[in-house]
Amino acid sequence: MNFDLTNDQKMLQDQVKKFADSVLAPVAPDIDKSAEFPWDNIKKMAKLGLLGIIIPEEYGGAGFDYISLAIAIEEISRACASTGVIVAVNNSLVGYPIMQFGSEEQKKKYLPLLCNAEKLGAFGLTEPNAGSDVAAMESTARLDGDTYILNGTKRFITNAGEAGVYVVFAYTNKELKHKGISTFIVERDIPGFSLGKHEDLMGIRATANCELIFEDVRIPKESLLGEEGEGFKICMNTLDVSRIDIGAQAVGIAQSALDEAVRYSKERKAFGQPICNFQMVQSMLAEMATEIQAARMLVYFAGHCKNKGMTRFSLESAMAKYYGASMAVDVARKAVQIHGGYGYTKDYPIERIYRDAKILELYEGTSEIQKIVIARELTR
Ligand code: CAA
Repeated sequence: MNFDLTNDQKMLQDQVKKFADSVLAPVAPDIDKSAEFPWDNIKKMAKLGLLGIIIPEEYGGAGFDYISLAIAIEEISRACASTGVIVAVNNSLVGYPIMQFGSEEQKKKYLPLLCNAEKLGAFGLTEPNAGSDVAAMESTARLDGDTYILNGTKRFITNAGEAGVYVVFAYTNKELKHKGISTFIVERDIPGFSLGKHEDLMGIRATANCELIFEDVRIPKESLLGEEGEGFKICMNTLDVSRIDIGAQAVGIAQSALDEAVRYSKERKAFGQPICNFQMVQSMLAEMATEIQAARMLVYFAGHCKNKGMTRFSLESAMAKYYGASMAVDVARKAVQIHGGYGYTKDYPIERIYRDAKILELYEGTSEIQKIVIARELTR
């Protein structure tokens, strides 16, 4: 077993770390306050190859592996959690399924646009009445000649307000249950497609999270991604990849919480000495650092399983996402505790980090869903 990163991975880590510290971290508090989408930084990251980390170079991507993807998402999220998920969605929820299931024409048309951020991607799965229960979706796409007529509403869609390419799921045959779901690539400017409510989120506030509304949208037959009826499997396989990213985002958010807690505990004095000298604070710091490293290893292991071509790595990615999410919430809570009353104010970054962490237990499958995936893999 080799725990060393490759030279390429180390170089990427170094490059993203420097960029994240110098460019992303300084604006993170402002975009949290304003909820303004960080387009300038997204364009800069496209130039560094971070919008298509796993996309092959022939389609405009950087051609890295899945551990590299995790390394980059961790570093970006350590500096700015909003930017972390914007980049993760573009790479894994949109770039990945087009790369994996798309026709040559679809790959040539969409992947370069996603990689250079000419058009950003969004993933239209969740609906007002269907979150955890994917097969309960109500959206439909009826074939009429050589177009599908798409109807439905998607909710809580990251990047939605600023995206140009949407991977959307809808029933082409309701009677077949999950085997009747299909996947489509939908472009922003198509008639009948509009944006609905913009969510005013508790954390990751700059992510243009919005509703998608489809009213008799005619999409060409060529926009079907994969085969008709393959949508549920495309969705689950894509989530297996993207949950590695969310595990990595959790590690990045938790690392920033720990860094803040260490800094504060060395500066703050009580009873005549820095609070980092007290064993109860030391106990929290030790637990935080150990749990972050454990989560990082689960994330790398899930990335390794994907790298070596395992067709099913649901168990490993669900473990990385489940453990990472609850670890990050717990680490952020302890970091607030170490800050005392100051941690509850906007004078310190830790209150933002605590708010950002909570989403990890909710999106891309709640923690409860991850436990179901893990348990089913153990018992099937
Ligand atoms: N890969 C390939 N196939 C898979 C699979 C996987 N990981 N998981 C399941 N399947 C297959 C099964 O083998 C089964 O196939 P057969 O019919 O051929 O036997 C089929 O899919 C149905 O599987 P299940 O019976 O397990 O399906 P289910 O209805 O019980 O659902 C679930 C399973 C795990 C609960 C799933 O619905 C799920 O993951 N729900 C959570 C949804 C989610 O993560 N949403 C996140 C939204 S995206 C988001 O948050 C993005 C954002 O904006 C940031």
